[in-house]
Amino acid sequence: WWDHVRPASKDPIVGVTEAFLADPNPKRINLGVGAYRDDEGKPVVLQCVRDAEAKIAGSEFLESISAAISSKLVEESLKLVYGKDSNVITDGRFAGIQALSGTGACRLFAEFQKRFYPESQIYLPDPTWSNHHNIWRDAHVPRRTFRYYNPSTKGLNFAALMDDVKNAPDSSFFLLHPCAHNPTGVDPTKEQWREISHQFKVKNHFPFFDMAYQGFASGDFDIDAKAIRIFLEDGHLIGCAQSFAKNMGLYGHRVGCLSVLCSDHKQAVGVKSQLQQIARAMYGSPPVHGLLLVSTILSDSDIKSLWLREMKAMANRIKSNRSALRDSLENLGSPLNWEHITNQVGMFCFSGLTPDQVNQLARKFHIYMTQDGRISMAGVTSGNVSYLANAINQVTNY
Ligand code: LMR
Repeated sequence: WWDHVRPASKDPIVGVTEAFLADPNPKRINLGVGAYRDDEGKPVVLQCVRDAEAKIAGSEFLESISAAISSKLVEESLKLVYGKDSNVITDGRFAGIQALSGTGACRLFAEFQKRFYPESQIYLPDPTWSNHHNIWRDAHVPRRTFRYYNPSTKGLNFAALMDDVKNAPDSSFFLLHPCAHNPTGVDPTKEQWREISHQFKVKNHFPFFDMAYQGFASGDFDIDAKAIRIFLEDGHLIGCAQSFAKNMGLYGHRVGCLSVLCSDHKQAVGVKSQLQQIARAMYGSPPVHGLLLVSTILSDSDIKSLWLREMKAMANRIKSNRSALRDSLENLGSPLNWEHITNQVGMFCFSGLTPDQVNQLARKFHIYMTQDGRISMAGVTSGNVSYLANAINQVTNY
C-alpha cells in the first residue's frame, strides 16, 4: 500500500529543535523556535498561568466546554485585538471561534476562504513564517507573495510592498503580520500602516492578520494592535488569527482565536456557523484545559494585570538581549553593521547570516537557528551571549 510514500521534507523550524536536542555538547544553544525562554534558556510557566491553574482546580469539565466559557474566551480575545470598548463587540458583528493556536486559526480561515472564494489566492509577505505556505497549500488556495523585506537595509521595502499591493488584482486576500513580523522583526511604522490601509481600501483587498506575537513588539497590547485598529477605523472588514502560545507561554496547549469581522450581526451568525462546521469536520472540538486557563486569565482582573506585567517583563528581557548581543559584537570589533539587531522588534532578529554561516555555527559552535539566519532572541541569555557573539564574529569575519 505505501511503497510510493516518500519521507516528507523536514519542517525548517521543527528540524532545528531536533538537531539541537540531538547535540550532547553542553555549550549548545537553541535559537530556533520562536517560543519564550527565561535567562536559563528554559520554557517559562508564567505566574498568571499558575494562578489560573489554582483557580480552576477541581472545576474542570472533562467532556466539553460550555458555550458561555467559549464565548467569554472569544470576547476577551477580541478586546485585545480590536480594543476593549470596540463596537465590533457591542454590535456583535464578529464571527469568533476558539482555534488550535495561531496555526489552527490560520488553517480554519484558509479553509473558509477556499469554501466561499474558491477562485481566490492569498498574498503572503516575502518572507513569512514558513508554515503559512504549508497551511494555504494544504487548503488548496494558490499562494502569491508580495515584497516586504529589503536585505540591503535589513528593514522594510515599503515602496515595493505598496507597488505589489497596488498591482494585485482588486479584492485580493492578503496576509499581514500586525506586529513583530516573523521572521524579520521588521514592522511598518504607524504612518506606513495608514498608507497600506488606504491602499487596501482603494483596491478592496481583504486583510487577514496573523497576530502570533501580540505584546512582544512593544510590551503593550494596545500598541501592538495599532495596525489592526487603523484598519478598523478605516472601515475594513478584517480577519484575525490570535495565539496565546507565546504571550502566555502556552505553546503546548494550542489556544487561539479566529475572528472574522462582518457587516452586521446577521452576517456574523452565518459566518460563525460555517467556521464551526469546518472545525467540526477537522478536529471536532478543541481541548478544554488551555481554554479554561486563558479564559480565566482574561476575565479575572487581578490575574490579567499580572499577565500584562509579566508580558512587559518578557518583552523587556528580549529587548535587553538585543542590546547585549549588538554590544558584544561591536566590542569584539566586528567590522559589520549590527544596528538591525536593536532596530528590529519582537521575538526575532533577521541576522543576515548566510546558510553557510548558519551551518558553520551549528557544526563548529553547537548554535542552532533556521537556515534563513533568523535568531529567536528569547534563546539568548546573559550566560551565552558572549559565546554567541564570539561565534557569530568568527563565522562572519573573514
Ligand atoms: C516560530 O516561527 O518559530 C513559531 O511560530 C513557532 C512555530 O510553531 O513555528
